[in-house]
Amino acid sequence: MSFSLMILMLIAVIIFPRGIQTIALNINIYGDDCVSGGMQVEELTKGTIAVFQLSNGDIIRGIRGADRVHSWCRVEAVYPRKGNDMFTTYDGFTADHMVIDAHTVRAYGKKGKATKSRLYMLATDCDAAVNAAGQAFTPISTAFCPHELSWSEYLPLIAAIRRVTSRTGYFWYFSDAFFNNETARVPEWKNMLHDMCTELLRCARKGQCQKFEKVVNEFVNEHMNPKYRVIVDHMFPNIGGDVEKSETGTITELVRPQDKSNTLLFVAVGSAIAIVLIIVAAAFLVRRARVTGKAKITRGPDPSDHPQAKAQDVET
Ligand SMILES: *[C@@H]1O[C@H](CO)[C@@H](O)[C@H](O)[C@H]1NC(C)=O
Repeated sequence: MSFSLMILMLIAVIIFPRGIQTIALNINIYGDDCVSGGMQVEELTKGTIAVFQLSNGDIIRGIRGADRVHSWCRVEAVYPRKGNDMFTTYDGFTADHMVIDAHTVRAYGKKGKATKSRLYMLATDCDAAVNAAGQAFTPISTAFCPHELSWSEYLPLIAAIRRVTSRTGYFWYFSDAFFNNETARVPEWKNMLHDMCTELLRCARKGQCQKFEKVVNEFVNEHMNPKYRVIVDHMFPNIGGDVEKSETGTITELVRPQDKSNTLLFVAVGSAIAIVLIIVAAAFLVRRARVTGKAKITRGPDPSDHPQAKAQDVET
């Protein structure tokens, strides 16, 4: 019974990967934060294999949600990093790659087994993937978000990134998607990443998005390879716009917490219920006032000490 349920859910996840949860565990946000192609992961049918042997649609282990529930995750994208350069990884991670360590998301650091390897970008539909050694890892590195994040800060951030990448494609993770621009406010594109992380967090967690909209627009206009910029402009025709006037066509539309309208709905329903309760309470009090009023008239000046009057009060 539970087994067939599992199979059904698995089929559902395979057929409607985005419907179940829009997702993408990406490992190479910008530059140096990849995983080694040789890192071992467990695949549902292929068993334990190396990252470089994975294909899109493979199912690997990962975790989802506030409770970090272990689950199977669909590989949305897996690419070797451009060029044949070898990089030092530690237990399969570049030193600045962010992994999950107890309740925090932080750089793996220079520990464990150092090897020179080809780097891969890997994206799944979970909040984090888990390798064969049981280490959970994110798709981002300190090149993007420099500080340690709590899991609860990280979740809305990664969910927003997934909504964007599943709309536009995964080129945000390719370092060749961006270039340095001498005439830009910030000539080196990598120097804009920390600002973008800060504003992305502010937008995805608190719904304050105008600065985020502006900084992404600047980044896209001044640093993004034209072949990808075309896609972004097409998907977000109003990028850089005033998001307090209208979110339509902005990147904020995807990043801002989706429950804003739900919150309004809850407030509306909540106030309706409160109004009904107030009316009911008022009707009750009026009725009670009338009854006790009558009681006073019929029973004399001080009925409250009388046990029958008390019983009547309770009943009405
Ligand atoms: C470089 O940045 C400037 C803004 O300062 C922008 O107008 C220009 O298009 C950018 N260069 C390229 C090649 O995109």
